[in-house]
Amino acid sequence: MAEEAILGFLESHAEIADSGEFAAQHGIDHNEVVNVIKSLHGFRYIDAQDIKRETWVLTEEGKTYAEAGSPEVQLFLAVPPEGISREELQKRLDPSVFKIGTAQAGKNKWVEMGKQISRKVQHVDDKVKDMLTRIKDGQCIDADNIKALKARKLITPQTWKGYSVKRGPNYAPKRKKAATDLTRENIQRGDWRELEFKEYNFSAKGPPAEGGHIHPLLKVRQQLKNIFLYMGFEEMPTNNFVESSFWNFDALFQPQQHPARDSHDTFFLKVPSTTRELPEDYVERVKRVHESGGYQSRGYGYEWKRDEANKNLLRTHTTAVSTRMLYLLAQKPFEPKKYFSIDRVFRNEAVDRTHLAEFHQIEGLVCDRGLTLGDLIGVLHDFFSRIGMSKLRFKPAYNPYTEPSMEIFSYHEGLGKWVEIGNSGMFRPEMLLPMGLPEDVRVIAWGLSLERPTMILYGIDNIRDLFGHKVDLGLIKKNPICRLGIN
Ligand code: PHE
Repeated sequence: MAEEAILGFLESHAEIADSGEFAAQHGIDHNEVVNVIKSLHGFRYIDAQDIKRETWVLTEEGKTYAEAGSPEVQLFLAVPPEGISREELQKRLDPSVFKIGTAQAGKNKWVEMGKQISRKVQHVDDKVKDMLTRIKDGQCIDADNIKALKARKLITPQTWKGYSVKRGPNYAPKRKKAATDLTRENIQRGDWRELEFKEYNFSAKGPPAEGGHIHPLLKVRQQLKNIFLYMGFEEMPTNNFVESSFWNFDALFQPQQHPARDSHDTFFLKVPSTTRELPEDYVERVKRVHESGGYQSRGYGYEWKRDEANKNLLRTHTTAVSTRMLYLLAQKPFEPKKYFSIDRVFRNEAVDRTHLAEFHQIEGLVCDRGLTLGDLIGVLHDFFSRIGMSKLRFKPAYNPYTEPSMEIFSYHEGLGKWVEIGNSGMFRPEMLLPMGLPEDVRVIAWGLSLERPTMILYGIDNIRDLFGHKVDLGLIKKNPICRLGIN
């Protein structure tokens, strides 16, 4: 509609002098006229020149007076012919109307102000309201009144932008639809000869990239990886979610009757339900340490079943990976090592705001001759202070594969209390010696979830908002970068 009007008008007139007036005369919204002018100008159907005008618009306060009348008139009308006490009048009016109204009506000599307020004139005109209405309708008013309204902060200046328009080099009374692409049909029909092609716009912005956003868990994981690497740790290969019970439990000296090995806690695989191969001589030593001990241990004294060890499962902790790595290490002449991993584990757990059936574990271990609990405490302080947790406390705990074991607590400044952040310990001789590691080799290790620190860092209190099918894609597309205290 605007386009037809503009091109049609220019057919018989040399110029549209003012797009604002043009829009008003043709009953078209000025914004629409401006958009069409920009587009026609782009295709050089028209030439356009900017026009700027200072105009005035009503402030919020100005708008309310344009509706309800100025405060001085509201006040005047609230004063009955016989007069009224100040308190009574104040009760009848909005506080700001009373305050401004008394000042202005007094200045205009409309009312007599004292304890008693009375009218001094019989009738008043609301000039302020009239002027505000005229400004709202785009009409002009004289400079003195503008000054007065501006001083009362009822109007504020605004630059109005429009155009004057003339025919351009490609002017036509009707726009030809430009072709955007040369098609096979254009060539077959031969109409490409007559077609006008749209020019390429090399400065057009491309659509925002939709892919390639990094999830908060991956950002925090990257930071943690960097910290481990700074500390001289090597990453362990964690690319197997499926593990045998042997590597997940038996090799860790976790007895076969242990409740964690129940299907209520662990996901077992139906297909393939068992592992194909295990290192037989090592399996034999693990069986023996469970049944009757050795290495100065009494063992558990039960009949160890190979079938139970063969069962495939989704690994319940990345300590299964650490165990495989320590076993490999034991097959060669001993070398001290520092290893870490950050990857997914699975537990058959009831899902709630802090638990999912799958999560990520961060695990670190140091393997060297003669390490002590003091070394473990030292390395934990070093590690956790790098992620901004420098106040730590430890509590004795139990794991089948570590002795001693310690739960790790950190003082959370925000919550003002100690929160459990991880688990740690020194791997038992019953775990390390059957592998073939030298007798004086000690392994200190710790583990924690990746979700816990990520939720704290990103202020998320329900794990289902962070991970899983209910996660808002907006969170994944837009989340802050993560920089853990890199010292
Ligand atoms: N595997 C333990 C867990 O799943 C963590 C841990 C790792 C504990 C290493 C001690 C040593 O909670």
